[in-house]
Amino acid sequence: MCPLRDLAATDEALAHQIQILGPWFHNLRINGIETAPEHFLGDYPQVKFAGFRDAIPSDLTGKSVLDIGCNAGFYSLEMKKRGAERVVGIDTDERYLRQARFAAELADAEIDFLRMTVWDIAALQERFDLVIFMGVLYHLRHPLLALDLIHEHVARDLMLFQSMQRGSREISPVQPDYDVNSAAPFDSPGYPKMHFIEHRYSHDETNWWVPNRACVEAMLRSSGFLIVAHPEDEVYLCRWQPIDIPPDGPHCVYPPKGSPQK
Ligand SMILES: C[S@@+](CC[C@H](N)C(=O)[O-])C[C@H]1O[C@@H](n2cnc3c(N)ncnc32)[C@H](O)[C@@H]1O
Repeated sequence: MCPLRDLAATDEALAHQIQILGPWFHNLRINGIETAPEHFLGDYPQVKFAGFRDAIPSDLTGKSVLDIGCNAGFYSLEMKKRGAERVVGIDTDERYLRQARFAAELADAEIDFLRMTVWDIAALQERFDLVIFMGVLYHLRHPLLALDLIHEHVARDLMLFQSMQRGSREISPVQPDYDVNSAAPFDSPGYPKMHFIEHRYSHDETNWWVPNRACVEAMLRSSGFLIVAHPEDEVYLCRWQPIDIPPDGPHCVYPPKGSPQK
């Protein structure tokens, strides 16, 4: 028996190990025991997933998946259940990664959980059929850069995306240009806006930027992701599209090591 399984040899031992690995953000069910039954968002992310699970291909046989900000691996595990051949989960938090490895081991799911920040994903040197980028954007000081990096280095086809949103849910048509002397569009509710959080939001100092809906959709488009489904308020399924490289240089300002200097 492998050491991780030893730690779950009885229900009591498993419950104890779950407690030692906590606190958990994902309420997983490991051999019937819930990891975060008192979650402030309810049975999370199961309740969230229920709103968009049908938008993701049900059969991922032979496909590869990268789960950025995987936490305890809820989405990685779900994609493995759909037959994904290769699943890689990355997160910056070693405690969450320990939880993910434990849950995957007990589920007999072969998933690579790596400690890695989204800023370093070029180092993976691999593109994935499905990139999951759920609940991370607003935790980043440089959100658009993250989308650029995903587009440039790891996405091949689909991206499942979620961000917290605040402000207006209206969407105004985007004009190709705005004259500096005409009435400014910026105060119209449907104009894309990001709200900057200097200190904390929801008692969390890792919340930096909260976009409104128009801003989420504009950022996805601007980074080369075509929105193909919007199954749940905050969740989008996108498809990678080529983007024109502007004449003044690559779209992404953070080129991989070894790329030619201009
Ligand atoms: C709100 S949780 C979302 C977890 C999961 N993706 C979900 O939707 O349930 C944000 C996760 O992103 C991770 N994270 C934060 N900054 C990150 C970064 N720069 N690179 C990778 N992961 C990051 C956190 O450790 C945390 O696990």
